[in-house]
Amino acid sequence: MRAIRCNEYGPPESLVVEDLPELQPKTGEVVIDVKAASVNFPDVLIIENKYQFKPALPFTPGSEVAGIVRAVGDGVTHVRPGARVVAFTGSGGFAEQAVAPAGACIPLADGIDFAQAAAFTLVYGTSHHAVVDRAALQAGETMLVLGAAGGVGLAAVEIGKALGARVIAAASTDEKLAACVEHGADATINYSREDLRERIKALTDGKGPDVIYDPVGGVYAEPAFRSIGWRGRYLVVGFANGEIPKLPLNLTLLKGASLVGVFWGDFAKREPQRNAAAFKELLGWMQQGKLRPFISARYALEDTGRALRDMAERRVTGKIVIVP
Ligand SMILES: NC(=O)c1ccc[n+]([C@@H]2O[C@H](COP(=O)([O-])OP(=O)(O)OC[C@H]3O[C@@H](n4cnc5c(N)ncnc54)[C@H](OP(=O)(O)O)[C@@H]3O)[C@@H](O)[C@H]2O)c1
Repeated sequence: MRAIRCNEYGPPESLVVEDLPELQPKTGEVVIDVKAASVNFPDVLIIENKYQFKPALPFTPGSEVAGIVRAVGDGVTHVRPGARVVAFTGSGGFAEQAVAPAGACIPLADGIDFAQAAAFTLVYGTSHHAVVDRAALQAGETMLVLGAAGGVGLAAVEIGKALGARVIAAASTDEKLAACVEHGADATINYSREDLRERIKALTDGKGPDVIYDPVGGVYAEPAFRSIGWRGRYLVVGFANGEIPKLPLNLTLLKGASLVGVFWGDFAKREPQRNAAAFKELLGWMQQGKLRPFISARYALEDTGRALRDMAERRVTGKIVIVP
């Protein structure tokens, strides 16, 4: 079976396609014929050894897949060969076959598209934990989302709207902002050509947002935090802009505001019951049409490096998937 391999840490161009032996499930494992694997920003960081999760070399990147069960190991009873499933694998996803612990395999209903399923868990799981659990966003409040057309950003926009909040989307191009409006954003800021602080002020009658969702960091964090409202909650989600920002702590005092860390991976491991409850709510919203995972492009397996390069260079809107 063909798989993308990271034989040494480096940029997306250093990834290679290799033929590997077919996967065999061990006890408690499931082998999946991958129909779609979604790309997440951490994939770009993992292959360059810049992320907290560090698989041993050589490895196959790709953390979430959807496909058809090929084989199950001893002790696996809830899925059988031929079943449609979605699975969070952690790594090994950019390949024709992937292996997952049985507990990470969720049966998939017939009508659900493999690409949309593969693009759901990480971004919606992260944004639900951030917006609902960590920020406790309320109906009628205002949330500003930075990097709003990205994977976790667009999920946050939809979740904000599902909760009845007003959502301001900020992104770097008008095309990206159009996608945010299409997914429910009430107002937009193009932070590559508009002054972020002035626009936030104008859009919130000078009050500032109640919640700021920040998966970008870098140069946007301090002006955004300076604009937050009284009792605001600033969600620290990621640093796609590259630089980890430093903030003067007096700003928290002046606004009675909170800096709130978000780490979905550890939340899911440490608090599995709360995570399961979050997914129950997310799937309910999905059935009501409030969540619509947006797949903007599909790439062949051999184009995985190009997909990761597009993500690293800010060219992606919504989610992209690899289709082996
Ligand atoms: N805390 C957690 O549990 C958790 C979970 C998942 C992901 N994350 C983190 O969240 C961040 C976003 O992940 P994602 O999968 O949503 O990525 P994504 O789809 O690539 O979105 C990131 C957004 O950041 C913006 N950006 C600004 N400067 C950038 C730059 N120099 N390079 C690339 N993008 C830049 C881009 O929007 P504009 O062009 O509009 O600025 C882009 O849409 C990453 O840092 C990731 O590690 C955290």
